[in-house]
Amino acid sequence: MPISPRTALCGIALHPAGHTRSPAMHNAAYEALGLDAVYLAFDVLPEALGAAVAGLGALGIRQLSVSLPHKVEVMRHLDEVEETARRIGAVNTVTRRDGKLVGSNTDWLGAVQALERETALEGRRAVVLGAGGTARAVSFGLLERGARVTVLNRTPDKARDLADALGAEAAGPLADLQGTRHDVLVNTTSVGLAEDASPVSPTALRAGTVVMDAVYEPERTRLLRDAESVGARIVPGKWMLVYQAAAQLESWIPGRAPIEVMERAFDRAGQ
Ligand code: ATR
Repeated sequence: MPISPRTALCGIALHPAGHTRSPAMHNAAYEALGLDAVYLAFDVLPEALGAAVAGLGALGIRQLSVSLPHKVEVMRHLDEVEETARRIGAVNTVTRRDGKLVGSNTDWLGAVQALERETALEGRRAVVLGAGGTARAVSFGLLERGARVTVLNRTPDKARDLADALGAEAAGPLADLQGTRHDVLVNTTSVGLAEDASPVSPTALRAGTVVMDAVYEPERTRLLRDAESVGARIVPGKWMLVYQAAAQLESWIPGRAPIEVMERAFDRAGQ
């Protein structure tokens, strides 16, 4: 669709901006739906975040995705922060509603909808590896869906803090996975990102479980390959990103987001 005076502008604020696949996903969705909109990446330095958010209001930008390193800091600059985002402690979406800039969080929904491709979550025993920002959103989502959550982390104190803050059942070091019965396992540590390594021993993985890795590059991380080889079902981390983007889109369009179109765009953007 040609750009016109009516074209809606959306985008993502992050720094550095080189590698995001969000423009590919959102623009592919707009095209598939015939939406008169365009989505750009904005490389926003931390010291310019307040000005960028003010500009968002002034320019009438429809929606802004917020990525690292801005997800916590952006809250100070908004008119309202939804309760869910406040409890997670991070905003990944800023939307204009009745002239106000409202912060929300779709990362937790992206994680649970990705897992729900393979399993229901109510009453399931879930283990989250890691205790950073991603672990917090994923744990929140699992608890929201009624799962029983254990948080394991290299630094166990941080796992305990996260578990206490959100109401998870248990916490401990990564090695505790060995003795922890689970139905669902989610890696949110950065292990596997830059090296062919897994945060846990393959002997701790179990057949019949569902294993998801927030690391999406490479698509089949060492953890996911180990999980497949013991007979677990796997969910590549790209689905978390596809579903969090779909939820962002669905918050300002009337219908459903085209999931398969967005997934294909995500894949193409990584080639
Ligand atoms: P994010 O916002 O993506 O969650 P983060 O807040 O920096 O990122 O969290 C990174 C997570 O990866 C932490 O849980 C970290 O463990 P620590 O709390 O002990 O630092 C985990 N992590 C990073 N490198 C790791 C490694 N080599 N082995 C195990 N865990 C690691």
